[in-house]
Amino acid sequence: MINVTKTYLPDFEKYQNYLKSIWENGWITNNGELVRELEQKLADYFQSKHCVLVSNGTIALQLALKLYNIKGEVITTPYSYVATTNAILWENTTPVFADINPKTGCLDASKIEELITENTQAIMPVHVYGLPCEIEKIEEIAQKHNLKVIYDAAHAFGVTYKNKPVVNYGNLSTLSFHATKLFHTVEGGAIITNNDEDAKQLKLLRAFGHINDDYYGLGINAKMSELHAAMGLTILDDMPKIIEARKKDYHLYKKHLNGLTIQFFEIPENTKYNYSYFPVLFENEQTVLKIKEALYKEGVNARRYFYPSLNTLPQVEYQSCPISEDIAKRVLCLPHFYGNNERIITKITNIIKALL
Ligand SMILES: Cc1ncc(COP(=O)(O)O)c(C=O)c1O
Repeated sequence: MINVTKTYLPDFEKYQNYLKSIWENGWITNNGELVRELEQKLADYFQSKHCVLVSNGTIALQLALKLYNIKGEVITTPYSYVATTNAILWENTTPVFADINPKTGCLDASKIEELITENTQAIMPVHVYGLPCEIEKIEEIAQKHNLKVIYDAAHAFGVTYKNKPVVNYGNLSTLSFHATKLFHTVEGGAIITNNDEDAKQLKLLRAFGHINDDYYGLGINAKMSELHAAMGLTILDDMPKIIEARKKDYHLYKKHLNGLTIQFFEIPENTKYNYSYFPVLFENEQTVLKIKEALYKEGVNARRYFYPSLNTLPQVEYQSCPISEDIAKRVLCLPHFYGNNERIITKITNIIKALL
């Protein structure tokens, strides 16, 4: 089966060398050497002061909400993976959904202000598929209303906006390093911040709220292990090669699908993109289901990322977001991963062409 994504597995010997160093040290978790090395390397890569590694991208969002003591309403996007909304709910805060910009799939900044109430404390936008949000507008609104901006940048590894890593905007950004992501540590995540005090607090929050015998407050276990950090360190050097190969495949897909009655999301201006997904918008849901089934019969598992629109989930109170609801029904992500090739892309696009 050709899946929508395929985990990148780096050179085994290189990973093994890191494992050897772990065995020699006998230190496998609790803020080990490799976690600290990866934090430093990623902070450099993101041109940020701090990168705080955690055990996954969902807990990264939860720690961000905890850090700012968010208790009220969080304005967020209905078009994302369910983890964004779940993190808000899990922290006993209330998601308020602003509809999306159909060109990028990201939260429409012009819809935020009308949703602000005296209970609003934060905005949690998502750079969905790694496509940057309307950063300047969001910043302006947040400043005017004294709101925190927590970017869910789970998909945005390697993306720059106006020559600056996109994770460097907002009060902070979170990333997911799950095995299906562009860059991964098997399971893992990170919080990117330029604020020294926030970084210090986040490190306490991820490790039970204490350092040795000094107890500072509430904390949880969100630590990354040395084995996970080793995977990240092994893969990091390969990132330029991975992004370049995906860029080539992205353009091949676009070439093969040219002229059909389908739409693509737009890469905003001033963006250096990471080509992390290949979502296609079809005319209607029936077409999506027909194509998904036809592909599946031929051994291709395309996925409905992101469906359903999160404002329609059973765990939230329904709020109307017609654009997101429409797009979520019409989207299909085609297989896009390092190691894909023109033969597979031709096979997939020929199946689509035959049905349209
Ligand atoms: C937009 C978004 N936010 C958060 C997450 C959660 O990340 P994780 O799976 O590492 O917990 C994911 C992915 O899975 C995601 O796609």
